[in-house]
Amino acid sequence: MDPMSKLVVFTGGTAGLGLAALGKLIENAPTNFEATPRFNYEVYIGARSTSDGALQAHFEGVRQSSPSPLEVKAHLLPLDLASLDSIERFAQDVLSNIVKPNKKIDILVLNAGIVVRNVRKTVKLPDNREFESTLFVNTLSQAVLLKRLLHVMADDGRIVLVGSEKHKVPAKTVVAPSTIEDLLSGGKWEGRNAYGLSKLVQMHLFFILKDEINRRWPSEGNKPSVVAISPGFVPETKLAREWPWILQLIGRYVLTLFPFTTPLPVAANTILRGMVDTTLSSGTYLGRTGAIAPLEECNDPTKRDEWRSWFVELGFWKTGADVN
Ligand SMILES: NC(=O)c1ccc[n+]([C@@H]2O[C@H](COP(=O)([O-])OP(=O)(O)OC[C@H]3O[C@@H](n4cnc5c(N)ncnc54)[C@H](OP(=O)(O)O)[C@@H]3O)[C@@H](O)[C@H]2O)c1
Repeated sequence: MDPMSKLVVFTGGTAGLGLAALGKLIENAPTNFEATPRFNYEVYIGARSTSDGALQAHFEGVRQSSPSPLEVKAHLLPLDLASLDSIERFAQDVLSNIVKPNKKIDILVLNAGIVVRNVRKTVKLPDNREFESTLFVNTLSQAVLLKRLLHVMADDGRIVLVGSEKHKVPAKTVVAPSTIEDLLSGGKWEGRNAYGLSKLVQMHLFFILKDEINRRWPSEGNKPSVVAISPGFVPETKLAREWPWILQLIGRYVLTLFPFTTPLPVAANTILRGMVDTTLSSGTYLGRTGAIAPLEECNDPTKRDEWRSWFVELGFWKTGADVN
């Protein structure tokens, strides 16, 4: 790897917002935000399918339509976020084969996510614990990846969590470590609600991560920064893939005509900004026009402590003294 290239580790780069954001990185087009100096990038995409012919052809098409003097190379690494074994193998792969003593991760983007039509406990761990798949893929998998990779982030690195304004939806219900199991066991917590819940817990994780970085990099100097993204409602992606095809077509060709939706290139630009805009301060929750406020309870240190303890008890987080 060219030592001057920026090392990017990315989940969910094979479709939808992630694919479009990587296309923007390759395009290297002028942006409406600060993004200088610009770099070459070496991108490692964790993906369920590692046959990358179509992906490389897509990126080559972007390169040809928007020639750039900068080089963005993309590689696929096997990763299934619904499998703890696969997440551990991916993290080990990154640690053993990608990161070098003089090359840490410059940008880590945790973008992959799902919505299911009906909640189901399909994620089974080797120790026989079972988890609802939305919560595991959208949130718990991110905690595990951060637990394994945070120590190899570059001191001036950036971590991007792709969140959602839907994290505000469960606000009328008491969502806490003590209620989450019940909330996910059916009833009105069907697929889309489980999605909102997973994004709420992810938003707590975002602030837990910010605190953890301050703990591990205590000096005032360079430390990794963390940004969460609200891409807006983007019906063109494959997120609703479990819904009937007719609804997906309506989403893609009808809903996109309405102003309450966000065009895919605009949403991709918000993710790109989260990745490369060095003027963003750590802890920014970024929407299409700039910083926005997360749900008020995400600023509550007592709630954050409860969620942190929950992640640690599950074995999906390491904090302070536990860190090697
Ligand atoms: N679209 C929206 O309106 C919207 C709004 C707010 C937030 N978001 C967030 O944006 C992110 C991207 O969503 P999207 O709309 O771009 O959806 P998408 O088109 O369905 O893309 C999802 C990406 O995640 C990957 N992925 C899903 N499950 C995975 C697993 N088990 N292991 C590894 N990779 C997995 C998919 O890989 P495959 O190619 O293998 O399927 C794909 O690359 C999500 O976090 C979503 O919550 C989306």
